[in-house]
Amino acid sequence: MFTNQTHLQHLLRPDQYTSEEQHRLELRHLFQPAWHPLATVGDLAKPGDFLTFDLLETPIIIRNFDSELRAFLNVCPHRHSKLTEKPRGNTEKLRCQYHGWEYNADGHTGKIPDAMAFRPWDRENSCLRPFRVETCGEIVFVNLSDNGVSLREWLDPVWEQWQPSYGGAFRHAATWERDFPCNWKVVLENSLESYHIPQVHPKTFKEFSEEENSWHELTENFTSYKTVPPNDIATRMSNWMVRRLGHPVRNEYWHRVRHPHITAAFLDVIRMNQCVFPTGPRTCRYRSMLFTLRGHRRGPFAWGIYRLLRSISNMVAHQIVEEDGTIYGGVQKGMEASPHRGVIGTREERIYHFQEYVNRECRGPRELPLLDERGA
Ligand code: FES
Ligand SMILES: [Fe+2]
Repeated sequence: MFTNQTHLQHLLRPDQYTSEEQHRLELRHLFQPAWHPLATVGDLAKPGDFLTFDLLETPIIIRNFDSELRAFLNVCPHRHSKLTEKPRGNTEKLRCQYHGWEYNADGHTGKIPDAMAFRPWDRENSCLRPFRVETCGEIVFVNLSDNGVSLREWLDPVWEQWQPSYGGAFRHAATWERDFPCNWKVVLENSLESYHIPQVHPKTFKEFSEEENSWHELTENFTSYKTVPPNDIATRMSNWMVRRLGHPVRNEYWHRVRHPHITAAFLDVIRMNQCVFPTGPRTCRYRSMLFTLRGHRRGPFAWGIYRLLRSISNMVAHQIVEEDGTIYGGVQKGMEASPHRGVIGTREERIYHFQEYVNRECRGPRELPLLDERGA
């Protein structure tokens, strides 16, 4: 059931998908306060494991310090070099690649070559800049602002569902990244509607669900879509395998977006976490982490089913992302030249809700009224 019965206005103008000014506003008001899923705990399993990212123009490093995950700006306070340029690795110490300053888990310096040359020691200006890092299930999230709510609060009310889904009966199957030649909102909005399915996914999804089999939920920070998959051979096979793995069959597809940029797609056999990051006004990076059902049964039969489910899910998920990827460049080029206002159908109403959120947040935090205006 859709919430709206008539078409809706396209609230964002085409130039909001191309302009540098809009890009800056979004970085500041949408992305700076947000939590960002970047990796799995399995990517950083051993002490000394590290990963580096360019996250929203900020180079960061996440490292396992004796089984504790810490995130820092990947910039050395000595003379500004990146600590490392490697995308991943394992080192006994966190040591800057340039002159070899070493850092501890709290970001303070450890061993410094020829330390006497730096007398008197400037303690305040020799620490790494830390960032908050938290996990939901096995997914590692980073936040670039010092203040703001915890990850658990930020994900409320879906924390209870997401936390056991990324781990537990589900195992991490794959992570992959793609750069797309379009504004990040093009990718996000595409994920918020099923209207494009017959045209873009004629062989994978095939048809969109009827309105009677489509539930939309629109809240301040989330939009959701639920449907019951068709009772076809693929669904019946899948349900059979889920039971063989000792997992309950719910037979529902859930798709949720936590504004601004995280998408969770849940079926009985998969849990998929997708995220899209702006890399400029006209470019973005998409990252997907796929978890597939392992269930609770052990033995060679259950193992075989798990492996089969994993490879089919991985293949289909890649295929769908590739199919969506074929249209993004064309949408972006259209945005650059469009004289139209645009229009949003009832099936696409989650997009309207998302656009309301973008405009609302990009106006920035409202100023508090003066005391006398409050009637005090
Ligand atoms: S710049 Fe890092 S040790 Fe010199
Ligand atoms: Fe799609």
